[in-house]
Amino acid sequence: MDMNLAGKVVVITGASTGLGRGIALRLADEGASLVIGDINEASHPGGYDEQPDLTTAALIAERGGRALFQHCDVTRSGDLTALVEAATREFGRIDVMINNAGVYRDGKLIHDFSEAELDLCLNVNVKGTFFGAQAAVRAFLQQGGGGNIINLVSTAGLGGHPWQSVYNISKAAQANITRCLAIEYGHEGIRVNGICPTYAKTALTRALLEQPGYVDDFSESIPLKRWGEISDVADLAVFLASDRSSYIHGALVRIDGGETLSRYSV
Ligand SMILES: NC(=O)c1ccc[n+]([C@@H]2O[C@H](COP(=O)([O-])OP(=O)(O)OC[C@H]3O[C@@H](n4cnc5c(N)ncnc54)[C@H](O)[C@@H]3O)[C@@H](O)[C@H]2O)c1
Repeated sequence: MDMNLAGKVVVITGASTGLGRGIALRLADEGASLVIGDINEASHPGGYDEQPDLTTAALIAERGGRALFQHCDVTRSGDLTALVEAATREFGRIDVMINNAGVYRDGKLIHDFSEAELDLCLNVNVKGTFFGAQAAVRAFLQQGGGGNIINLVSTAGLGGHPWQSVYNISKAAQANITRCLAIEYGHEGIRVNGICPTYAKTALTRALLEQPGYVDDFSESIPLKRWGEISDVADLAVFLASDRSSYIHGALVRIDGGETLSRYSV
């Protein structure tokens, strides 16, 4: 299916590594121009990125695409306003905002998590998404309406899991930001959706992947019997960014190999 993203301008946060980088590369391959905001420019050495020696923008340029990097801390609303302004300045407009930057904390019961760990998840995952959406909506309205927001949520935002409450709480809030935005701005032609992956291989999940037996146990527990790949999530993001998904709105799309269907697996 031709996704026809030529001429579209996409702003994406946290795309120096991991899922965001994979999404940015696929969007650029489909013809989109990218503005990448992150607190780090380099690919994470502990991730599973292709050609990690190159930044995402450099790799896109090497493949013949258009991308620019701008430092952006999503916990600062001014940084997100400046990121969207960079898109308008460099490429003339913004068509799609992808709130991808996120942090994960796990390994503790609720009474053991610190306030700092809770604050980090709330600041990056919740406020970052909220500020990103605000900056994008303001620009969309100024452009005369229409637009597209995609939030990287998680299956963790759709239910509870043990030992990662601070992450789950933040992801649940992100899911509801997605719903609220969809209700408030659909009439302006602004589509809003959330992507809800289960574990995919990135720096964020490296510690789990390295636990003896974890990959096999987790893979065995889900119907499709494998971990998610960055490319699985990137393909979905490309579809949601394209006009091919023009009647999908307010959806929280699970991309989890069927993991959340049942606790039973054959
Ligand atoms: N990997 C998974 O299994 C998985 C599953 C479900 C959802 N997600 C979500 O997908 C998104 C991307 O995850 P990932 O696995 O690629 O993570 P990652 O750790 O590999 O990459 C996260 C990126 O976000 C950036 N970042 C962190 N804090 C930032 C800040 N304050 N401002 C700007 N950028 C910041 C990092 O520098 C990094 O480039 C996150 O929102 C995550 O919660 C990931």
